[in-house]
Parts: sequence; structure tokens; C-alpha cells
Amino acid sequence: MHKSYLLTPGPTPIPEAVAQAQARPIIHHRTPQFQKILKEAIEGLKYVFQTNNDVFILTSSGTGAMEAAVANLLSKGDTAITVEGGKFGERWTEICQAYGINCEVIKVEWGRAVEPERIKALLKNLGRKVKAVFTTLCETSTGVVNDIQAIGKIVKDTEAVLVVDAVSGLGAIPLLTDEWNCDVVVSGSQKGLMLPPGLGFITLSQKAWRLVQEAKSPRYYFDLNKAKKALAETDTPFTPAITLIIALVEVLRLIKEDGLENIFLRHKKMAEATRQAMKALGLELFASEAASDVVTAVKVPSGIDGEKLVKIMRDSYNVTIAGGQGELKGKIFRIAHMGYIEEFDIIVCISCLEKVLKQMGYRFELGQGVKAAQEVFLK
Ligand SMILES: Cc1ncc(COP(=O)(O)O)c(C=O)c1O
Repeated sequence: MHKSYLLTPGPTPIPEAVAQAQARPIIHHRTPQFQKILKEAIEGLKYVFQTNNDVFILTSSGTGAMEAAVANLLSKGDTAITVEGGKFGERWTEICQAYGINCEVIKVEWGRAVEPERIKALLKNLGRKVKAVFTTLCETSTGVVNDIQAIGKIVKDTEAVLVVDAVSGLGAIPLLTDEWNCDVVVSGSQKGLMLPPGLGFITLSQKAWRLVQEAKSPRYYFDLNKAKKALAETDTPFTPAITLIIALVEVLRLIKEDGLENIFLRHKKMAEATRQAMKALGLELFASEAASDVVTAVKVPSGIDGEKLVKIMRDSYNVTIAGGQGELKGKIFRIAHMGYIEEFDIIVCISCLEKVLKQMGYRFELGQGVKAAQEVFLK
């Protein structure tokens, strides 16, 4: 018998009430009963996205919502700016290229946030031909948060729409979709929203809808015009993931009860405790400037096998954190403090990390990480 702790940047742990909601008997979706659930889900999502526009629920992971954004906004031969500061920024470029979009790529050193001025300069340079700017709220692969508010101020005065990947970060750190002039925001269910994977979300501004009407990229399942028409009748174009939407309503009630502001504060505290603990252990943070409150990326100290560290924590002690992705494989490990994570989850994770680091021969004083985290929590 083993108790497990999940501190990965998706999936994240699921609150008990949400897990239980998934055990309810299945219902049919073309019924007033489901319509009531769908309506509550959309209203709750509007609060989490901080938008007055509708939020569409797709049956897909977050990448499906990203692809829906590209396929619905653009046509082959269009020009878009993509910001690549990690694996998920690269995904925007890859999806755009699959649709024949000309990508003007802003390459950002991994571990840093994009300087909004670079977007401004490129937009100025390229002029009206840029139809969209694709960005990432929290670049999960590096633990960096981008300044979407500043980028929004820049893009709003141009012809282009601002598209934000908030798959990681939504419901964990501030993202004011309308106030920050985000035209399209996409997300997924398995991170800040504390659900299993399987739902994608997308919301669009009026400016973005104008592009949808012009766009000629092929689309069928992810045709947002179909989704819009269905939603006007409180319906979905295809069979929705009914059970996940029932659980989503439960999540949204919990979020409403706590209030977004309090949730953001909790994430801030969890992140600060984690960062202080890492420093106390003599470890270096990968994202030194724009570290997110969503996931903390830490450099693997020299002489330690980073992949083995993550593997021992998981396989010997059931504490699952994430390793590095892409070019960061083996070089960093990532501790997520996103969603249903509280003080003692962090303490357990840090004490496990200390134990394994000690076993692997890393030299430090046992207990220093836990102590630093406790001090943050006691404040
Ligand atoms: C920032 C970001 N974007 C996109 C994705 C892709 O989402 P999914 O794996 O749900 O398709 C992830 C998942 O880790 C992510 O963290």
C-alpha cells in the first residue's frame, strides 16, 4: 500500500468532491438536465477566464484548443508571430506550420520571459500583414511567466489578434482576458482546473471572430462557428465529455467559493516556499527573473543524475515531480504547485527531494529546505 503525491505540471491532483462527481451516473447531453450543467460550466469558466465572452468547451487536451485557434483564425499563406521561449512556444510554431502559416519566430532564451518590446518592434517591422501573435502565459517547460498584460497593450493597437496559451496558469495566476486585451485564450482541464485531462477551452473576442469569418483553413471537428451556433442553443455540436463537464461544474463551485484572488495568493505562497527551499539547499532556480507561481524549475546540481533523481522520488517514494523536457532533459527538475496543492504537499515533496539528494551524494544539511519552506508558511 502506497500513498502517492503528484506535483507534476499536469495532470495535477483532483479534489475529492471533484473525483466523486465523476462517479455519478451518465446522463444524455441533449436534455434540459445537461443544458443546466453546461450553462453553469460556461458561466463559471467566464469567471475563471475573466471575460464577458463565451468560453467554448472542446473534447480534447489543451493542444486541441491550440490547434482550434490556428485553424479558425488563419488561412494558408497568412503571417503570424510566434514567441518561442520553450517547448510550448515551439508548439505554436509547429501547429502554424502544419497549416501553412508563415511564422515569424521570436526566439527567447529558455529560462527567460519575452521582452514585450521585441514583439512591438517586429509588429512595426512587418506591418499589417501580421494576423496573429501567439504567446504563452506560463511556459511550463521552463517555469517562466510572460508579461501578457504588457503584450496585450502592444497588440491591441494593431491589426493582429493576441492569442494566449494559458493551458498552464489559468486559475492559478492572474490572467485578465478582457482587461488585458487577449483576443483568444486557450486552456486545458488537467492543470489549474484540477480535473483529469480531456477538456480544452477557448474564448474569442469580437476582433478574433472577425478573423474566424475570413479564415479558410480546413476544419471540421474544431470549427468554432459550429460551436458558436450550438452554444446559442445551450448545446454542443458533438457529444461532449459529459462526465468531465459535470466534474468541471464542481471545480468551478470550489473556485468560486475560494475566490480567484485567494487562489492566486495560495499559489504565490506555495511557489515562494518552494523557491526558498531550493535556495536553502544550495540549488539554483532555472528561471531567475520571471519565475512563475505555477511551476518551479530547478537546475540539477553537478554530479547528480537528474533523470535518476526524478525516477527514485517517483518509484521508491511515490512523490512524482517532473524532469526537464526537450533540450532541458536531465538538466532541470520541475516541482509544480498548481491547483489542489497545499502547504504539506510542498513539505512532503521537499523532504523527499532532500532524502533522495542525500542518498545520491549531494552535500547539504538535511532539513534546510523544509525549514525554509516552513518559515515562508509561518509568515
Ligand atoms: C503551456 C502549455 N501549453 C500547452 C500544453 C499542451 O497541453 P496538452 O498536453 O493538454 O495537450 C501544455 C501541457 O503541458 C502546457 O503546459
